[in-house]
Amino acid sequence: MSRIKVVYSCSTCGAQQPKWSGQCPDCGAWNTLSEEVAASRRASVGQGGRLARFAGQAGVGQVQSLSEVTPDDVARQPTGVGEFDRVLGGGLVPGSVVLIGGDPGIGKSTLLLQTLVRIGAQQKTLYVTGEESLQQVSLRAHRLSLPMVAVRLLAETRVEAILAQLDKERPQVIVIDSIQTVYTELLQSAPGSVSQVRESTAQLVRYAKHTGTALFVVGHVTKEGTLAGPRVLEHMVDTVLYFEGDSSSRYRVIRAVKNRFGAVNELGVFAMTDRGLREVTNPSAIFLSSHSEPVPGSVVMVTLEGSRPLLVEVQALVDESHLSNPRRVTLGLEHNRLAMLLAVLHRHAGVATFDQDVFVNVVGGVRVTETGVDLAVLLAVMSSLHNRALPRDLVVFGEVGLAGEIRPVPNGQERLQEAAKHGFQRALIPVANAPKKSIKGLQVTGISRLDEALNAV
Ligand code: TYD
Ligand code: MG
Repeated sequence: MSRIKVVYSCSTCGAQQPKWSGQCPDCGAWNTLSEEVAASRRASVGQGGRLARFAGQAGVGQVQSLSEVTPDDVARQPTGVGEFDRVLGGGLVPGSVVLIGGDPGIGKSTLLLQTLVRIGAQQKTLYVTGEESLQQVSLRAHRLSLPMVAVRLLAETRVEAILAQLDKERPQVIVIDSIQTVYTELLQSAPGSVSQVRESTAQLVRYAKHTGTALFVVGHVTKEGTLAGPRVLEHMVDTVLYFEGDSSSRYRVIRAVKNRFGAVNELGVFAMTDRGLREVTNPSAIFLSSHSEPVPGSVVMVTLEGSRPLLVEVQALVDESHLSNPRRVTLGLEHNRLAMLLAVLHRHAGVATFDQDVFVNVVGGVRVTETGVDLAVLLAVMSSLHNRALPRDLVVFGEVGLAGEIRPVPNGQERLQEAAKHGFQRALIPVANAPKKSIKGLQVTGISRLDEALNAV
């Protein structure tokens, strides 16, 4: 075989160089050159046979009008794990590629092994492990008391070898754990480098698409919590899932951030037990902490993640600061949003926090990504600042605008019903979200401005 041609291309301007250098000679950007297989060789190496085989597929390379194309009924295969199906949009689609990211030790390998065993009852599956030895995987399966006949295992990290095995085994569902350990012999760089991750993923995705195999790819996350490796990874796959959760809490949340086959921001909730991950099918109140007395700085809100209302507790601590730049720390919330809310609080309610450190936390390690949390954050901050607890049976939600107005959020009625179901008796919400019919057992106060909210509590 002739030597494979490698080029170094700049991620800023796209120019290709025969040699690596620290600065791109074309655009002058620093540290942007990365190794790539020269384009002309790409299609022919390794994939030749496979491409030829599928060239006869209907619709390939022909222009058609949209009306002529009938969507195949996407045959979704339920995985047997209900919460996982929920984030996938109702089940696994053949030929789809799902990327799963999350902190080390959060339970990615555990979830995928459990899922594969369930799927294995109906379909051929293959678990490719690059991180753990076969013994370690078997040890985990024993610990989880899983029936082991259904799953085939492979310990391999070279993509070409994996593809050869896939051709032999012809599984319908594959797990690659993890993509950072996999490498292709086309490139010289180390496994886990940007170019290796991109090229290996590309080869695996091509295989999945051509053969209609469902592929799960585990990806590491960086310190900042985003998927390690090239950003293009997220574009190459159909679905991106993140595993979230506090390592100290036993609850784990899996969230879809991109899904070509379903809704995003849908959540699946699991609990980590000594027998693996267990589904939590009714998670709405698990993120509340259990104080017996009302405590200052704590407010319960109803958030709507995906299609499911969740009760979460927002906690704030406001403390006198001795720093020239007081601290603004958020956990589970967007940082900039807090700075904005504190500015609104100062401007429209006359409450200054420039000499205070402000910490805001969402209990249980969940992330709240919607604006309905604004009102809860401000009330928690006020409650901590004045050291006065809010009533325990109060629930709030609502977006706060820059002009100090309280704006409605989607699905108000559903949120209120969920709160009533869990025994909350008072709700403070945007006036536009006030229900037309009263909700049994819940006294609803609609407000339209921030100062009204502060007066009401
Ligand atoms: P793992 O699936 O190996 O995480 P990842 O692949 O995301 O790195 O998760 C392992 C963690 O889960 C480990 O810290 C131990 C814990 N665990 C349990 O608590 N119970 C169990 O039954 C198993 C298998 C793991
Ligand atoms: Mg793992």
